Amino acid sequence: MRNPRILILDRSTDLLDQVTDVAEDLRPRPDVITCHRVDQVGALLSDGEPFDVLLAGPSLGDQAGLARLQVIHDDLPAMSIVLAFSRRPEAHLRDLVRTGALDLLQLPVHDKQLAESIERAIEVAAALRAPVPVTLTAPAPGWPVLGAEPKALGQVFTVASATGGCGKTFMATNLAFFLAHHSGRRVCVVDLDLQFGEVSTALRLKPRYTIYDALQREDNDDADLAEHFEEYLVGHGTGVHVLAAPKDPSEADRVSPPDVTRVIDAARKHFDYVVVDTPSALTEIVLAAFESSARLFVMATLDLPSVRNLGVFLTTLEKLKVPTDNIRLVLNKAESDVGIEVGQVEKLFPQGFEAVLPYAKEVSRSINLGMPVMASSPGAEVSRNMVPTMASLLPADLRARIAMPAPISSSNFFKRLFHRPQPSIS
Ligand SMILES: Nc1ncnc2c1ncn2[C@@H]1O[C@H](COP(=O)(O)OP(=O)(O)OP(=O)(O)O)[C@@H](O)[C@H]1O
Ligand SMILES: [Mg+2]
Repeated sequence: MRNPRILILDRSTDLLDQVTDVAEDLRPRPDVITCHRVDQVGALLSDGEPFDVLLAGPSLGDQAGLARLQVIHDDLPAMSIVLAFSRRPEAHLRDLVRTGALDLLQLPVHDKQLAESIERAIEVAAALRAPVPVTLTAPAPGWPVLGAEPKALGQVFTVASATGGCGKTFMATNLAFFLAHHSGRRVCVVDLDLQFGEVSTALRLKPRYTIYDALQREDNDDADLAEHFEEYLVGHGTGVHVLAAPKDPSEADRVSPPDVTRVIDAARKHFDYVVVDTPSALTEIVLAAFESSARLFVMATLDLPSVRNLGVFLTTLEKLKVPTDNIRLVLNKAESDVGIEVGQVEKLFPQGFEAVLPYAKEVSRSINLGMPVMASSPGAEVSRNMVPTMASLLPADLRARIAMPAPISSSNFFKRLFHRPQPSIS
């Protein structure tokens, strides 16, 4: 078992000296690392082994320092934050709470109190990290650098379907994980299923803020929204960020299609990839998301109502003059002996299905763990079958590094479908 790691963030060395002394008597003895410059903390947290505790000293006690801690907490929610200030910061209580701090120590602090606080912070961090067994197919990229913005506007990928329960949220969360894992770039999921959004539930997140809060800012102009966008996100252990759907379904009505465009534009300024989950409907809100999207995944399941509604959905998009060349079809929860074959469905859609995903028990398991199935069961058929279509979204150099899994399937139809060439959009 590795030693707990404590990061001291402060300009002076006083706190470091005291923590180093106190740490001598703790078992297991923590490694104490220090960072004197706030602008270097992102790189330190991104590289190498994770820290269990961040102890923020008096130089973080102003508004800018607290805002920085908020971003760090949202990016690394499993790391405990302890504040150690000589006087109460001149900030709103809300700003203190939003740092997610477990404890606020008044300096000078007694060794015993400092030791107790550190021990508790280490325990909480260990408990937060413990339950999620992640098996990854390839080395995980470092954490995206905190607060770093993409050089160009990020790309938007939207997942939609005509019928409920087809697996949009499942696809959106897995796509976000895949992109973050294989590119090491910043990825955000925007939950546009405004009434009954379940991205946070699927990832077992407890968002403090939602898209509704982001749109309620006092100076509600585009620049302000873009500047403060990250404050409204919640971070997942895989490095993916989420802008959650409103907590109360009644708030959904107050989000307009132009609001959606503003939110997506703000997300693109901060993230390299923005994955949008949608409700099962062709509303103005969903159409607004399509307009910003480089690719649109339309999901269906292997049953007649879903297949019929997929046809209606695609015809309606054509009538609305939504460009169809960015649309890819995904057939999910495919099972044999359900009275309808993949081949029959394919005949109805000449563009074909870019991915056919089996019904898999690993998906239920992944939901219970709050992890995308591609992270919790990368070797499962359902995970492997998603790889080619998702890899086609990455630039060629990153795509070349991904080992394309041979499809596992008993059906010839499946084999034929999976061997379609995957055009790239990059
Ligand atoms: N391939 C699969 N195998 C097994 N279960 C799956 C699969 N895909 C999705 N599921 C499960 O089916 C249920 C519905 O999936 P999901 O919530 O992703 O659909 P949705 O299209 O987002 O639904 P809604 O329209 O309600 O938003 C979830 O419990 C999910 O875990
Ligand atoms: Mg959903």
